[in-house]
Order: sequence, then C-alpha cells, then structure tokens
Amino acid sequence: MDSMTFVLFGATGDLAKRKIYPALYNLYLDKKLPAVFSIVGVGRRGLSDEEFQSSVAESVRTFSRRSQVEAQQINAFLEAFCYCSVDVTDPKEFLPLQERVKEREAALDLPENRMFYLSVAPEFFEVIASNIRASGLGTTKGWKRLIIEKPFGHDLASARQLNEKLGASFEEEEIYRIDHYLGKPMVQNLEALEFANPVFQALWNNQYIANVQITAGETVGVEERAGYYDHTGALLDMVQNHMLQMLMMTAMHLPKRITAKEIRGEKRKVMEAVRPLRKEEVSQHVVRGQYGAGELHGKPVVGYVDEPGVSEASKTDTFVAARVWIDDPFWQGVPFYIRTGKRMKEKSTRIVIEFKNPLEKLYRHRQEKPAPNLLIISVNPDEGIALQVNSKNPTNSGKIEPVTVDFSAGTKDVPEAYELLLFDALRGDSTYFAHWKEVELSWMWVEPIMAAFREDLVPLHVYPAGMYGPDASAELLLADGFQWWLDK
Ligand code: BG6
Repeated sequence: MDSMTFVLFGATGDLAKRKIYPALYNLYLDKKLPAVFSIVGVGRRGLSDEEFQSSVAESVRTFSRRSQVEAQQINAFLEAFCYCSVDVTDPKEFLPLQERVKEREAALDLPENRMFYLSVAPEFFEVIASNIRASGLGTTKGWKRLIIEKPFGHDLASARQLNEKLGASFEEEEIYRIDHYLGKPMVQNLEALEFANPVFQALWNNQYIANVQITAGETVGVEERAGYYDHTGALLDMVQNHMLQMLMMTAMHLPKRITAKEIRGEKRKVMEAVRPLRKEEVSQHVVRGQYGAGELHGKPVVGYVDEPGVSEASKTDTFVAARVWIDDPFWQGVPFYIRTGKRMKEKSTRIVIEFKNPLEKLYRHRQEKPAPNLLIISVNPDEGIALQVNSKNPTNSGKIEPVTVDFSAGTKDVPEAYELLLFDALRGDSTYFAHWKEVELSWMWVEPIMAAFREDLVPLHVYPAGMYGPDASAELLLADGFQWWLDK
C-alpha cells in the first residue's frame, strides 16, 4: 500500500470519533496501513496537536472493537496525527493547511498521495472540494482521492448538481462514495457466495427462486435526529441508498472478471433493469408507514409525532416496504421485496431467498406440504448464513420437517464496515463504493415514490411500535401468495 497523507475534514465530529479513528486504529494494529503515513485532522475548533491526539486516543478507547488498548501501540499510532484549524468556506485558510500537509510530507519523506475524507455536513461538500482544487492542495505528484458519505443530494436534481460540482475537482475514479451497508462483511460476501458456490450460481435465477426479501429493521426511533429525519424519512434515509445497494448486490450476476469496474457494471445493469414506477401506480407496490405509540423490550414508547422536534401533523415515513421487479432474463417474474423501518420488533438486517418447489404438486395428496427452501443471509447484528432444507424426521414418524443448516460467523473480532471500506479506499479498490451511476439510477427510481408520498397518493399506515410495520406490508406479499419469513 502506498504511503500517504489522510486529510480528515470534520476531525472533531461524531462520525470521526465513533467510526473513523477506531477503524484506522484497528487497521494499524492489523498492519493494514502503509508503513509511513500522516493524518491531518481539520476542524473549525482551535486545538493543539496534543489536544487532538488525546481526543483521538479517547475515541479509540471508547469505541474500538478491541477491548484492550495498549499504551505503547496507541502512542506510536498517535504520532501520525496533527491538527489544523480551518474555516472551510474561506479559500485563504486552505493555504496554511496545504503548508502543514507539505511540511509533514517532507519530514516523513512521503510521496504526494493524498486522501481527503469529508466527514462533514453535505452542504460543505462542494465548497471543500472546490477549495481543495483552488488552493493547489489537490494538485499532487501522486494520487488524490475523495471520500464522501451520504446523503448525495436530496433528490435527483440536487444529486446531479452535487456530482457536477465534485466532478470539477475530482475524477469519478477518484471519488469514493461510502454507503456503509456495502462495508458490511455479509453484504460483501454476497458476491463470494455466488462465485465460490456453484450450487448457488446454478440456482440464482427465476427458474429456482420464488422471491427475495430484504429487510433492514431497527428498534430505535428517530432519537435526537428529528431535524434531519423529519424532512428525510425512511425512503430517502434507507431505501434510496442502503436498500437498493443490497438489492443490486443480491441480484447481480457474476461478471466475466472480478474487478471493481465489472462488478459495478453488473450492479448498474440490475438498477437499469429495475422496473420504473409511475407516480399513479406507486400505491400498488409501495407501503408507507409511520410508527405510533407501542411497546419495545417491555417498555412503552411514544409514537413518531410525539417525538421531540416532530410536528404533530408530520406525515414522514418511518417505514417503507416495496415490491420491486427486475426486468431482465434472470429475474423476470421474481418479486424482490424490500422493507425497512424504525421502531420495529427487532434490529435485524437480513436477506431471505425463497426457492421454488417445482415438485410441490407431488405432495398435494399428502397432508404435509413441505416448507420452502430458504437461504438466509444475516447481515446484522449477527453475521451468518443458514439454509432451510426439508428432511424426514425419523423420531416423528418420518414426517418431513424443515431443518436449518446454520453457519454463524459470530460477532467477535469481525472487522467493522469502516475498517473494510477505509482499507479498500487506501489501496484504491472502489468495488464496495457507490458509483455515480448507481446513485443516479437509484434517485431516478425513488423520485416517483417521493412525489406520490408528497401528493398523498399512498396511504400512511400508522403501526404500533414494536411490530414488523403495518399490516399492509404483510398484505403486499400475501397478494402474491407469499409471506415475510422469520418474523418472530
Ligand atoms: C444510516 C441512517 O444511514 O443507517 C440511520 O441514516 C440508520 O437512520 C442507520 O439508523 C442504520 O445503520 P445500521 O448499520 O445500524 O443498520
């Protein structure tokens, strides 16, 4: 891996503390950072290098997945950190920043490879990118890369505009758009499941698969984020990005070569084949929900409109379920169901693939109807794969019963999404980052749904907190003769 400078904008922010420093530290311990590197934290606040280093140490101690943090190792790690106070809207303030970066490059004999991570509110993306270019900070003899995180715009037009602005300072190949769901080990595993298992390769199509169910349920409510969430909702917060990324990863077929370009090409093909919805037909395929008062873990919780900062009349969606059709030869006729919601019964992200049983009719005369084969990919909080198959139970008069072959990766020592993603970005592998085309196509699909919600063409179902969403979500599948699997 190339030696480099990592310039982190938003160095005193929450994401940096909770995710980025612990991830860098774990990479450091695993010897996955370059031999020599410099990390320049950028923030508005005035901090000395020492104060900054001790706040980094504090966040590593608090949030690292490794319970023991050795003083000696962390001190060596902290040596790489320095701090620069910058008002990012003022182009002049980028000059001292550039000096600092160059000084350290000279002192450490670093090539001019520069990674810029914008861990800041999205309204600063454009100004920072353009100041990086205008100041010359982005003119390097080595490589330069930009990492940004969602939201990439708040609709198709603003996303396009942002992309154009970023494009003035960075090439598409230099932009690493984080969708942290793509950093989840089991989401990354989807591709391997297929290429390493001819069994699944052979079955990954409409001949054998009846439907696919992708769930991202959360027990948390809006928490302290009403200001953001109330004008965002589940559709933009989760569906436009994480849910559609999981759909692309599940539905894509293997390219001829496993490279970032080809894999992203396959994902794009999936998104291009997703059947667009007209605003008028959204209500037939999409369920909109909002949590009401209910109970979670034995405790009463208030409904969404009674949360602090939310208006009483809010119609914001905290739950969305949708039936998605992919019009390509592999998936013609196979519904993909996605659903995500806050204040659901359990925190669970999973992908369930239900297989067809062409021999089902053989059993018609018998009382027992075998359960379908299910492939269950648990993404979060437990990582694992399980296969539900049918087998005669000799201790129960040879009755055919579903049994589950279960592999659980366990939760210990599994690297976090940010570790995997930062490692990839540092070595220039963009496979698990969202390409602009994926983002654009996702916005295009979501826009008519946004319009239908806005114009109230889709009923808003209030569901009690602590359930799996409104009944309408179960009815969506029932209409096709299916049910959501694994709801407890
Ligand atoms: C974020 C959303 O992108 O993902 C949050 O903004 C959501 O609202 C979070 O809670 C869920 O992520 P995870 O990794 O906990 O499933």
